Amino acid sequence: MAGLVELSDLVVRFHARTGLFRTVAIHAVDGVSLTIEAGETVALVGESGSGKTTLGRASLRLVRPASGSVRFDGRDITDAPERELKGFRRQAQAIFQDPYSSLNPYHTVREAVEEPLAVHGIGTAAERTDRARKALEDVQLRPADVFLPMYPHLLSGGQRQRVGIARALVLEPRYVVADEPVSMIDASSRAELLYLLRDLQATYGIAFLYVTHDIASARHFAGRIAVMYLGSIVEIGTPEAVVERPLHPYTKALIDAVPEPDPANRLRERPVVPGEVPSAADPPAGCPFHPRCPRFMAGRCELQRPTLREVEPGHYAACYLYEDET
Ligand SMILES: Nc1ncnc2c1ncn2[C@@H]1O[C@H](COP(=O)(O)OP(=O)(O)OP(=O)(O)O)[C@@H](O)[C@H]1O
Ligand SMILES: [Mg+2]
Repeated sequence: MAGLVELSDLVVRFHARTGLFRTVAIHAVDGVSLTIEAGETVALVGESGSGKTTLGRASLRLVRPASGSVRFDGRDITDAPERELKGFRRQAQAIFQDPYSSLNPYHTVREAVEEPLAVHGIGTAAERTDRARKALEDVQLRPADVFLPMYPHLLSGGQRQRVGIARALVLEPRYVVADEPVSMIDASSRAELLYLLRDLQATYGIAFLYVTHDIASARHFAGRIAVMYLGSIVEIGTPEAVVERPLHPYTKALIDAVPEPDPANRLRERPVVPGEVPSAADPPAGCPFHPRCPRFMAGRCELQRPTLREVEPGHYAACYLYEDET
């Protein structure tokens, strides 16, 4: 079966100015292939700067890839002009990290949640309000009629994020990218919001790309975990496989860096591996992780980039340690 979202060999570069006449290319996404099936949740984990947000945005065609392709529901949309993306824009939505900046302070909750419907010309005014009401109830802002006339400043961070989720779901999308949806919510509300997202995802059969720093929360939320490092996916598999039998030295480091069972602390960002912070402006040759890798093999890892290999069924790693085992 073909996936709903199919990314192949995706490359995204940014050009950052370093001087008056000089720019450097930032290899934010450096050759990623990833398929997300209808109704599936894939968690994308990795350190800051590894390219998670950029990959999510490229999958929504919010940034144009330099090469590779983005397919949605069998259709190649890599270079489709905006006017041909209307149907896609309706079916693919985003939930953003920051519930404070993602809502217009001058719009009521009703306006915020009805807006996507109005943009897509869906329903009459009365129908739009009905759908907004239902979306608010879905995200447990109940009774909806109390929340509809409210302005964002009256809402807590968690409630604002629920409005953001309602806004994304009101179009009944088939694919949603949730980029660190709880990292700016106060700790006591995070787990509840994640469970809400998981329930909505399951109820409506939405394919989810859940972007997070936190491999532990990914475990309870995702059908598969993809670990990203410096623009590449270095490991992918079920949560049990990736968390209990991590293959890639980077994944192992990522898991060891989360000793904290308290979910309130767990979600906080922490440095993963000691050593120099990698730069996407100057990615190393060979395996992107080799300069920091405790299992570095000279004469091999620095020469050519390893590709993802299926080490056990459904569990892939891009590492020369497993080169001869398949
Ligand atoms: N608009 C941009 N212009 C220039 N460089 C960018 C831009 N957006 C991202 N980058 C760079 O691309 C790389 C990947 O960034 P990205 O935001 O995708 O990482 P991330 O994994 O989402 O990080 P974080 O966990 O901090 O959100 C980084 O080196 C970042 O500095
Ligand atoms: Mg990000």
